[in-house]
Amino acid sequence: MASDAPIGVFDSGVGGLSVLREIRERLPNESLLYVADSGHVPYGEKSPEYIRERCATIAGFLLGQGAKALVLACNTATAAAAAELRERYPDVPIVAMEPAVKPAAEATRSGVVGVLATTGTLKSARFAALLDRFASDVRVITQPCPGLVECIEAGELGAEGTRELLRGYVEPLLAEGCDTLILGCTHYPFLKPLLHELVPASVSLIDTGAAVARHLERLLNERGLLGSAAQPARFWTSGEPGQMERVLPVLWGKSTDVQSFPE
Ligand code: DGL
Repeated sequence: MASDAPIGVFDSGVGGLSVLREIRERLPNESLLYVADSGHVPYGEKSPEYIRERCATIAGFLLGQGAKALVLACNTATAAAAAELRERYPDVPIVAMEPAVKPAAEATRSGVVGVLATTGTLKSARFAALLDRFASDVRVITQPCPGLVECIEAGELGAEGTRELLRGYVEPLLAEGCDTLILGCTHYPFLKPLLHELVPASVSLIDTGAAVARHLERLLNERGLLGSAAQPARFWTSGEPGQMERVLPVLWGKSTDVQSFPE
C-alpha cells in the first residue's frame, strides 16, 4: 500500500467532519476522502444490522477509491460495525471511536459525569463494557438526544429550535451535579458554541476527535504509511449534494464540490 494513498473517513452524515478537521490539523500531508451517509441519517435510531450493512457498503467504496486506512468517524457506527469491519479487512488500519468515558471519569471532581450520545450508542453492549471498565468509581448519567443530529445536518447550529432541544437534554444533567459532559456523537462538537452558552464555564466538555487523529497518526507511522503530500479532500454524500455543499463552509471551513455517493 502506497503511503501517499488517501485516508477514507465516514459517518452517518456531516458529524464526522468534526473528526476530519482534527485529522487535517494533525496530519496536513494526508489526502482525505469523506463519505456522509446523510441519505440514511440518523444511525442513532436504526438497528445494528442496518448500520452494519451501510458501513460495509461505504468501507468497500472507500477501499475501492484506494484508501490506505479507514476512520469510522461515528460512535454509533463503531458500536454496531467496527468489529465486523476489522474482521473483514484485517490488513487495513481501521480507527473507530467511542464516548470518552475514561478521560471523563478521570477529570470529574463532582463524581458525576453526563453522556450525550445517540440512542444506539447508549444501548450498545460496547458502551456497557466501557462503563464497566472505566466508570466504576463515578456516577454516569446517560442522555440520548434524538433530533439533534438532524439540526446539525440542516446547518442549524445556532437556531432557536436547536438551542431549546439542547437545553432540554443538558439541564437535567446539570441538575444532577454533572461537572463533565461527554460529547459522545461526532455531530455534537459543532454545538460547542451553544453548549458554552447553556452550561457554566466550570463544566468540561469532552470529545474524542483529537485523540482519534493522534491514534491514526500512530497507526500509520507504525506501518510506514504516513503521507508526504496532500491532494484536496474529496466528498461524497448519499443525501443531497447541494445541501452538504451549503453546510461545508461552516463545518469544514471552505466551499467544496460534493459528489453523489454511488449506491
Ligand atoms: N455522528 C454519529 C455518532 O457519532 C451518529 C449520528 C446519527 O446518525 O445518529 O454517533
